Amino acid sequence: MKHSFVSHLFCPKCNAHYNTEDKHQLCICGSPLLVAYDMESLALSFAPSQLRDREPSLWRYRELLPVIDQEHVVTLGEGFTPLLPTPSIGKDMHIPGLLMKDEGLLPTGSFKARGAAVGISKAKELGVQELAMPTNGNAGAAWALYAARAKIKSTVIMPVDAPLITRNECAISGSNLYLVNGLISDAGRIVADLVKSYGLYDASTLKEPYRIEGKKTMGLEIAEQLGWKLPDVILYPTGGGVGLIGIYKALKELQTLGWVQGQLPRLVAVQAEGCAPIVKAWENQEKASEFWPESKTVAFGINVPKALGDFLVLDAVYRTGGCAISINDEDLLREQQRVAELEGAFVCPEGAATFAAARKLRQSGWIGEDECVVVLNTGAGIKYPDTVNVKVPVLEPGERLTR
Ligand SMILES: Cc1ncc(COP(=O)(O)O)c(C=O)c1O
Ligand SMILES: [Zn+2]
Repeated sequence: MKHSFVSHLFCPKCNAHYNTEDKHQLCICGSPLLVAYDMESLALSFAPSQLRDREPSLWRYRELLPVIDQEHVVTLGEGFTPLLPTPSIGKDMHIPGLLMKDEGLLPTGSFKARGAAVGISKAKELGVQELAMPTNGNAGAAWALYAARAKIKSTVIMPVDAPLITRNECAISGSNLYLVNGLISDAGRIVADLVKSYGLYDASTLKEPYRIEGKKTMGLEIAEQLGWKLPDVILYPTGGGVGLIGIYKALKELQTLGWVQGQLPRLVAVQAEGCAPIVKAWENQEKASEFWPESKTVAFGINVPKALGDFLVLDAVYRTGGCAISINDEDLLREQQRVAELEGAFVCPEGAATFAAARKLRQSGWIGEDECVVVLNTGAGIKYPDTVNVKVPVLEPGERLTR
């Protein structure tokens, strides 16, 4: 029984094609490569009804994933996270139809588990024995742990300021972990040199084509969970932008298969005011972004001064009639507290930024009151204990409380 309908890799810039049997990184033109499927065969033999009895994980979409032999699947039970109504915060910001896709429930506490599960599984299928990657924390944690499960050696380099827990997740997995006194872009340069010198598999964002396929499953799940109807707007916290590119790719594939109809949701790239290269490019209607100097934000995962796939993020935003918007740290931390108080959800700072962006876009009228709006909470708030600054009273033993 054939599972995956993967056909080849293609370059979105120069349209060169590559096979999926060999290891490929970037196109010779320097662009990231994307995965193509045999959509004609898929349309004939794959239908939503086939999903009904499948396991609630991202592997339920195996036909649209690149792993050919299911023996190579490396899983920690990732996927099918809840798409939760958030009526109280929705009412507070006058978007009653607000929904949160909560990725904090995934293994390793962030949506990076999706990219790691599919990326590592495909790396195993390709015979990779050792990989290297730069990270802002969560991706490194996920890849280090999934690599351990796949018996693949890993080297991970992250900024010293990355959330401490992600450092510990890498360290305990047996990964070769290094910290860099700088940003993810500095870590990236060291990894590039290491890869060149020792021929390691480069698992940097978009330098291997398969992580995006894992992240794409966020889009597949949102559509399935809404009964193959699409929301009006999806807001995504954008660093490297892989999640947004993946969601767009998923929705296009579903459109090609005829599983969804009508207009695609307006995709919103949410960034932090201290690191907003995509927003600046969108405001100037540019096709690509420029390096953002001295970037800084508490939403560490979206501190990416220049994304390799910036042109793909911007293309997805333009083609869906979406927008890009930045939020300052104070507003996103205030929103994080509001979401916890009103919904009982402790979202990560990056996820909080998407709620704050929905509020801002509703205030400006860009989002209408009756629209179905999905915000992505990309990780668990418990991974970032230091962002909470609520004062807690300390009692002496035997002290009586009055109310
Ligand atoms: C919690 C969280 N949200 C969002 C992002 C940004 O991800 P992407 O590369 O898909 O833009 C990251 C990346 O590190 C992250 O850790
Ligand atoms: Zn190319």
